[in-house]
Amino acid sequence: MYTQGLNSNDSAPAAAEDAGKLARFQAKCDAEDKIEPNDWMPGAYRKTLVRQISQHAHSEIIGMQPEGNWITRAPSLRRKAGLLAKVQDEAGHGLYLYSAAETLGIAREEMYEQLLSGKAKYSSIFNYPTLSWADIGAIGWLVDGAAIMNQIPLCRCSYGPYARAMIRICKEESFHQRQGYEIMLTLCRGTAGQKEMAQDALNRWWWQSLMMFGPSDKDSIHSADSFRWKIKRFSNDDLRQRFIDATVPQGHYLGLTFPDPKLRFDAATGHWQHGEIDWSEFKRVLSGDGPMNQERMAHRRRTEADGAWVREAALAHAEKRRQRAAAARQAAE
Ligand SMILES: [Fe+2]
Ligand SMILES: [Fe+2]
Repeated sequence: MYTQGLNSNDSAPAAAEDAGKLARFQAKCDAEDKIEPNDWMPGAYRKTLVRQISQHAHSEIIGMQPEGNWITRAPSLRRKAGLLAKVQDEAGHGLYLYSAAETLGIAREEMYEQLLSGKAKYSSIFNYPTLSWADIGAIGWLVDGAAIMNQIPLCRCSYGPYARAMIRICKEESFHQRQGYEIMLTLCRGTAGQKEMAQDALNRWWWQSLMMFGPSDKDSIHSADSFRWKIKRFSNDDLRQRFIDATVPQGHYLGLTFPDPKLRFDAATGHWQHGEIDWSEFKRVLSGDGPMNQERMAHRRRTEADGAWVREAALAHAEKRRQRAAAARQAAE
């Protein structure tokens, strides 16, 4: 996931760009053609995408931690295999997305550096702790569920490499969502204590999953370019409402209650109405002051340092192969 809320665009002065090129670029977007890496694109489009895709990649990578935390404690072999596969999928999502961002001209090392130095943002949802096994169910159901709502429209994003990466990612995310819901269903059909665990997890993850869609559009002054360029298709509030409408009946089917006394179905509009979201918490966690920010970043830096020898060995091996091939070519001449 998990980027929509973090977007902000650079509005590079369009007048400075070649007007003809700009018109052709916009016509391509309007015609729903894909923009490919070698096509001309406005600087601000490139910059917006580099930021959005790299933030998305960082979120996938950091997002492995809260769940990876439970791999050794999954309650059965089946659950362990499922969770292991899910966390590996998230690593894969990060890697596709770093590759997609690289096609825009930024080096992977630079993106890593932005993350490790704390300059880059990632989704605030991953700065919360996973306190019980039920959190793994709630994350799959709610966090991956919110991710799907956000990401399905990105499969039609104007930038080809991003759109294509999202198609596969969305297929895997929907599997994650079902896996999470099935964990919740099993807990809710179990003992009273297990159902209580599921309720507690819903209580702690509900508001955070609503925040994943980002602040209300009336507070977002930068989305016009993203809409015009066909990067963004729906407003944050629209996507949040779709998520709520889809998810509330699922929660009721589980026999759980949502931690929002103002949640009620409005028959006139056909939508579930909800209470106020505490955006001050979102901003605080996003700016680095959440319950797990320090730990997530410390873990990421530690694993980066621990893996340095692997990257160095791979580079040394590649260099040796290059030298050997060059020597063989020379001998053959
Ligand atoms: Fe993912
Ligand atoms: Fe996922």
